[in-house]
Amino acid sequence: LFVLLFWAVAAYLIGSVPFGMVLTRAMNLGDLRSIGSGNIGATNVLRTGSKKAAALTLILDGGKGAVAVLLARLFAGEDAAQIAALAAMLGHCYPVWLGFKGGKGVATFLGVLLALAWPVGLACCLAWLIAMAVTRTSSIGGLASAAASTFFMIFLGYGSALFLGILLTLLVFWRHRENIKRIRAGTEPKIGAKKD
Ligand code: G3P
Repeated sequence: LFVLLFWAVAAYLIGSVPFGMVLTRAMNLGDLRSIGSGNIGATNVLRTGSKKAAALTLILDGGKGAVAVLLARLFAGEDAAQIAALAAMLGHCYPVWLGFKGGKGVATFLGVLLALAWPVGLACCLAWLIAMAVTRTSSIGGLASAAASTFFMIFLGYGSALFLGILLTLLVFWRHRENIKRIRAGTEPKIGAKKD
């Protein structure tokens, strides 16, 4: 139990590094909180106008999720890897450094899935890209891939991760509740629009 607790805390701390915030500050791109949706994720970093910063945020926010899972698995096995996946997501969405006001979890979600069950992660990345290409809306891409993850887990033989997958999906939906309201109202901005 101590080992699992250790990996939960370690993965939370890894997940809580807000790369979008760090990069936009380091690159002098302004205050993310007062741009677009105010979110710390890659989509909002793109609204600063820097594709490079947005791409780096996506990769690093995804990468930290994958690293947390892979380290936990390497040192403590599959149960620890699953706990690390949840903890990294909680770290990203509720980081202690930002008063627990963090991101919406899509990049980190894709990262932990790629590390946890790569066929599911790959399928989710595809679903994310397709939904975004069709709708030109980042949040719909994230929500679609999260929703699809449950089905991919069942059909690709990762039923053992199903409970975790459902938890992560619920977390992504919960963090997108403002986006969901805007999608329903038809006011959710498309990718590339600089402001809300
Ligand atoms: O991953 C976040 C994305 O789905 C939505 O971001 O900034 O448009 O609320 P944003």
